[in-house]
Amino acid sequence: MSLNRAIHPMRVFVRAKGAYMWDHTGKRYIDYHAAFAPYLLGHGDDDIDSAVIESMQRGESLIGAGTTPWEREVADLLVESVPYLEQVQLTSSGTEAVAFALRIARAATQRNDIVFMQGGYNGWMDSVAFNLMDPASALESHKKGQEHALRPISAGMDESTAKGAHAVEFNDPEALANVLSQNQVAAVILEPILQNVGIVKPQPGYLEEVRSLCDRHGSLLIFDEVKTGFRHALGGYQSICKVSPDLSVFGKAAANGYPLGVIGGRTEYMSYVCHPDPSRRVLVAGTYNAHPFTVAAAAATVRKLKERGKEIYAHLDRLGERMQKGLTRLFAAQDYPTTVIRQGSAFVVYFMEYEPTCWMDIARNNDAELDVRYRNLLIERGVFHFPVTTKQGSISFAHTSSDIDETLSITQDALQELRR
Ligand SMILES: Cc1ncc(COP(=O)(O)O)c(C=O)c1O
Repeated sequence: MSLNRAIHPMRVFVRAKGAYMWDHTGKRYIDYHAAFAPYLLGHGDDDIDSAVIESMQRGESLIGAGTTPWEREVADLLVESVPYLEQVQLTSSGTEAVAFALRIARAATQRNDIVFMQGGYNGWMDSVAFNLMDPASALESHKKGQEHALRPISAGMDESTAKGAHAVEFNDPEALANVLSQNQVAAVILEPILQNVGIVKPQPGYLEEVRSLCDRHGSLLIFDEVKTGFRHALGGYQSICKVSPDLSVFGKAAANGYPLGVIGGRTEYMSYVCHPDPSRRVLVAGTYNAHPFTVAAAAATVRKLKERGKEIYAHLDRLGERMQKGLTRLFAAQDYPTTVIRQGSAFVVYFMEYEPTCWMDIARNNDAELDVRYRNLLIERGVFHFPVTTKQGSISFAHTSSDIDETLSITQDALQELRR
């Protein structure tokens, strides 16, 4: 993918299976990047790939003229599995799912503005592509309780989108309350754990407060579970935090690496896609939406997580704990000011002394340069973490205790080199 190429112009990967990937020289890496997290079951999981191959062999090619029984099956599986999904629509990516969720929110509230989180990522589309990992220098004058100035994450964006966009810090309910009371906000969209800048967890009561602020101000709450969904539980993070969003979006682990996005939520809002008044109806389109092969992958993934979820999530948690304990011990022995944070199988090492609560905290206190050097030393030694500061590590069901132990022993060596 292009971001990868921009950062790694000379690195060429040719194969991935289970917990590993190989570059063009044949060098093997234990993979924790997992293609930005979809590989919950590991690369090329045999059950998922077989389901796709069988779908091809049955001749289930793209028809695109009405629905299909297998699309129905996935919709039923998703609604049964995730607590606050009453209806769903399928897309081909997380970004598309977010775009349609925002459309539904605007149609339902007849308002325009969108609030998102500084340090969060909700896809590349112009209406939310702001304030991802701004440097501390850009945040100097920012104060708690305030909205951020907007900083686009790309050149070439439509300038007019900034008019209805608002960025606030995660875990800063006062800032959200101020924005909601001063603007006509259609929706607040957030990852319930900020996972594009590591693992930034909601403070106790924060998500509940976001929910009640949305209710008070007539805005919809959208959980972006593209990264948290299925990784932390079959029912998504919403099944853990028990806060009910109006709409949610999923992707990534929902089809274990096949390109799928899901928009779902309360019927009251999802029904806008077939609203009787054409002027209020929301168009959800896309030639490849609900493509039979991705749908086969999603059905097989969700079915496997339903049938073997206990074993799968217990394995992921056990390995996550082994990794967290091991890394904490290794960094402590080297006397580095680091904090290892984990949620189940997702983990990150912050190069700062305490657990951050928002991006501003990270931008000001995390030693990004040291983090990137650390990541590159690991890559040289055959452990792959994306070489950008705070990017989350993702353990898969295919990883074993010996992979974690090998990783820890390589880490020890990398830390000695980091000292030099
Ligand atoms: C939380 C979150 N939302 C949305 C997206 C966009 O998903 P996609 O890359 O499938 O368009 C991503 C992708 O990284 C993401 O992490």
